Amino acid sequence: MSTVPSPIDPNRPSAARIYDALLGGTHNFAADRAVASRAAEILPEIPLIARANRDFLHRVVRYATARGIRQFLDLGSGIPTERNVHEVARAEAPDTRVVYVDTDPTAVLYARHMLDDDEQTAIVHGDLLDPATVLATPAVRGLLDPSRPVAVLLIAVLHFVPDGPELDSALHAYRAAAAPGSLLAISHATACGSPELTARIAELYGRSGTPLVLRDADRVAEFFDGWELVEPGLVLGPLWRPDGDPVSDAERFLTLAGVASR
Ligand SMILES: C[S@@+](CC[C@H](N)C(=O)[O-])C[C@H]1O[C@@H](n2cnc3c(N)ncnc32)[C@H](O)[C@@H]1O
Repeated sequence: MSTVPSPIDPNRPSAARIYDALLGGTHNFAADRAVASRAAEILPEIPLIARANRDFLHRVVRYATARGIRQFLDLGSGIPTERNVHEVARAEAPDTRVVYVDTDPTAVLYARHMLDDDEQTAIVHGDLLDPATVLATPAVRGLLDPSRPVAVLLIAVLHFVPDGPELDSALHAYRAAAAPGSLLAISHATACGSPELTARIAELYGRSGTPLVLRDADRVAEFFDGWELVEPGLVLGPLWRPDGDPVSDAERFLTLAGVASR
């Protein structure tokens, strides 16, 4: 794993930049915007789904800080957009430390730029499937105390990771490295009642070189093996501890979400 991001190819869409485009960000290229707008033609709610995912992330961060957690490992952190994990966490607990990890060179570049000389946060250019390397980076070793609880965030990333022993053993390694009291948060794309639409979205992402794996609740629940889901369990994203009244059409968001502790 290099700490220097590989060159950015503007002609090749990336999951990070497509997501940035869906969120209305500016760190994307025409190739990414083309995929984002095609996805929105197939599924007009998709920008709303991306926004709802960010809202879930923010609720998780506030939940974790309320439980006394002061360190976060954000795996598949994406291109920095407004209200990043460290900003939300530090609004609640100024001493919070955050390590972001992403494979995408654009995400790493912009995160470096944004974090600049922030001593409580760092970005690692790495693959979450290589936990030994991720956990051994100076950023993780320097900022995250392994004897204290950490919130491990896997938000809207595992649907870009294929099934296989690498994924299972990576999840096992992050769990093993997490002190008692730690949290694991996952959000994940799912077909819900729209198998045809979501298959078309998956096909679009696959064609653009960023394969998308939709999983059902049983499979996503397995990612929490060895952890104990906190209330309300693994649910449709908007229904996880909503800030206001729960939405009545949560299925429309095609997202499963849960948080577990150990
Ligand atoms: C849809 S974005 C989600 C960003 C952020 N977690 C959020 O929810 O706002 C998915 C991110 O996961 C990253 N990613 C995909 N596979 C990864 C892997 N194996 N290791 C680390 N990052 C990965 C992509 O580069 C992308 O930035």
